[in-house]
Amino acid sequence: MRIDIISIFPEYFAPLDVSLIGKARERGILDVRLHQLRDWTHDVHRTVDDTPYGGGPGMVMKPDPWGEAIDDVLAADPRARPRIVVPTPSGVPFTQRLAMEYAAEPWLLFTPARYEGIDSRVMAEYGSRLRVDEVSIGDYVLAGGEAAVLVMVEAVGRLLPGVLGNAHSAVDDSFAPGTMENLLEGPVYTKPPEWRGHRVPEILVSGHHGRIARWRRDEALRRTARNRPELLAGLDPERLDRRDREV
Ligand code: ADE
Repeated sequence: MRIDIISIFPEYFAPLDVSLIGKARERGILDVRLHQLRDWTHDVHRTVDDTPYGGGPGMVMKPDPWGEAIDDVLAADPRARPRIVVPTPSGVPFTQRLAMEYAAEPWLLFTPARYEGIDSRVMAEYGSRLRVDEVSIGDYVLAGGEAAVLVMVEAVGRLLPGVLGNAHSAVDDSFAPGTMENLLEGPVYTKPPEWRGHRVPEILVSGHHGRIARWRRDEALRRTARNRPELLAGLDPERLDRRDREV
């Protein structure tokens, strides 16, 4: 998968050299290209922002540098069409489902903004030709979209074939479509069997795989009820069994 990121802080993306995503890049699974937005300005101050029409606080990112930058990135492969992802707190929620959708795309272009956001005509311009998603990673406001891009690239990158060591480890993720949809993962344990007087739940060392699966499902339901009760309403009744209803 190819990922382009245009930002006034390309150095913000140094963490993409590290760990799982860093390895995926080394192995050629992920091709990340960073671009400095200011390279597409033409004044001595390399200006990327201006005051908002209609008044109000803060500054808005000018359309010209974004348009030139995106045009140049698109020109790198005129036959291919990236999906453009614009991080903004006003966007649609970024979910595991959307991460999976992005993981199936050959090319993503992220356009993280600073200040009050990008002049909306940029999204209108490319939205008429390409898929442009305005996406929020949560109901809080960051100082800019860069941290949101790091979050999305990590969530998408770990889903790419060959990135996770164990082919099954993304299947049981919290929120993963299927049995974990709208469920949080329950608690996990490793050795030693007793630590500071706390014992590992007996069922997990029982060797009864069916009962262990049932216990994990119960714990997932319990944790979801405690931490995210609103998710329970989204559980598919067809997938609930009698035992689920008793938890
Ligand atoms: N930029 C600022 N806040 C954001 C958020 N919550 N999600 C995505 N981009 C953002």
